[in-house]
Amino acid sequence: MMKLYIETYGCQMNVGDTEVIFSILAGEGYERTEDIAQADVILVNTCSVRDNAEQRIHGRLEWFRTWEERKEGLLVGVVGCMAERLKDQLLESGVVDIVAGPDAYRSLPRLLRDVAPGRPQINVLLSHEETYADIRPLRTDREGVSAFISIMRGCNNVCSYCVVPYTRGAERSRDPETIVAEARDVFSRGYREVTLLGQNVDSYRWKGADGAEVDFAALLRSVADISPQLRVRFATSHPKDISDEVIDTMAARPNICRHIHLPVQSGSDRMLEKMRRRYTREWYLERVARIRSAMPDCGITTDVIAGFCSETEEDHALTLSLFREVRFDAAFMFCYSERPGTLAARKYPDDVPPEVKTRRLGEIIALQNELSLESNRADVGKTFRVLVEGPSKRSDDDLCGRTGSSKMCVFPARGHRAGDYVDVRITSCTSATLIGEIV
Ligand code: SAH
Ligand code: SF4
Ligand code: F3S
Repeated sequence: MMKLYIETYGCQMNVGDTEVIFSILAGEGYERTEDIAQADVILVNTCSVRDNAEQRIHGRLEWFRTWEERKEGLLVGVVGCMAERLKDQLLESGVVDIVAGPDAYRSLPRLLRDVAPGRPQINVLLSHEETYADIRPLRTDREGVSAFISIMRGCNNVCSYCVVPYTRGAERSRDPETIVAEARDVFSRGYREVTLLGQNVDSYRWKGADGAEVDFAALLRSVADISPQLRVRFATSHPKDISDEVIDTMAARPNICRHIHLPVQSGSDRMLEKMRRRYTREWYLERVARIRSAMPDCGITTDVIAGFCSETEEDHALTLSLFREVRFDAAFMFCYSERPGTLAARKYPDDVPPEVKTRRLGEIIALQNELSLESNRADVGKTFRVLVEGPSKRSDDDLCGRTGSSKMCVFPARGHRAGDYVDVRITSCTSATLIGEIV
């Protein structure tokens, strides 16, 4: 058996893909190792979404090259979004033996067979069909509680700042029967939560042999029907596409978690237009109102970009005011990073100075920290059903797990363990965590 080590960067999609790769290579004599020193093959599953993500990976590849305890014959491969974006350039650098894009993982056994000193291997073909539907991912999470299930791949939107459509190709949905079968399989093996993954889950669509169509709401219902003991989550929702039917399906099923990640990107219509998000501030706020009228307790989180091309102080102020208006429970916040080849890179100068981007980002973060703290404070005294994910980071005497709204809770273990459902009464909080006790 050869030993395979995979290091995963980027989004949940990549975590799911790493599990697909382990599964593909397990059938070919590669065994997973968690000890990098033991590895015969190291694959780095990479992200291109921002320049700093790529710089980190270049640094890592350089580290492998100069690694003193480097095992004789060690192979290093780059897979994922950066492999797709940089293609041959990665081979020319001479530090990698294998380059495989997100739709090329079935060819990894062949690439590994054919690779030789001075003969690196590459496959970065994108596909219109590949969904790895028949592959049973080899789960890598420690506790066996929560599984990612990819329901679609690629993206057909053309948000002008975004590299994902170039690295992951065209959008395609996966056969719903295989999705439900995978969810049922992990549930029967003790998992209690699945997260359905796609860049834009609301555009999930499958036409069956009988002509009947399955959309995202229908898929959600089928997965939720597996068992009331199985929690269902999903990401990412697109504000332009999230439908009333999806919202009402969530409201009707207690085991679909009340949390929606709804990236807004900016509060300014001028920026949203330039970003090609295809919704307005008003539309976004209406969607939030619709979600809250159906589910007053629904957690809403977001992504935002500070300092996109030509962003003024007025545009930035609109983002801050939108944050105040919505009162997000949490947010991922970024400085704009120009990505080569995207529409924005071709059409708009990246003209907001770095120090201005950083200052604006700092203002958004400071505001969101206040909002997160207020949102958490409002939960003190309430009791939530929490799925135990495992020991807390700080202490083995404490457990952690999430509320339905996706807030992290920490509480004394009292004999419980990962996979248990417990009712936790919240006694205090920080801006990032709820602290409580099992009742
Ligand atoms: N499909 C998802 C998210 C994909 S990338 C969606 O549509 O929202 C995750 C987040 O990274 C995005 O929501 C965006 O906020 C951020 N992002 C994407 N490209 C970026 C760029 N060029 N610079 C800075 N942040 C970016
Ligand atoms: Fe990128 Fe937009 Fe697609 Fe999300 S929806 S992956 S931001 S192009
Ligand atoms: Fe995900 Fe990064 Fe690719 S966010 S889709 S791994 S560019």
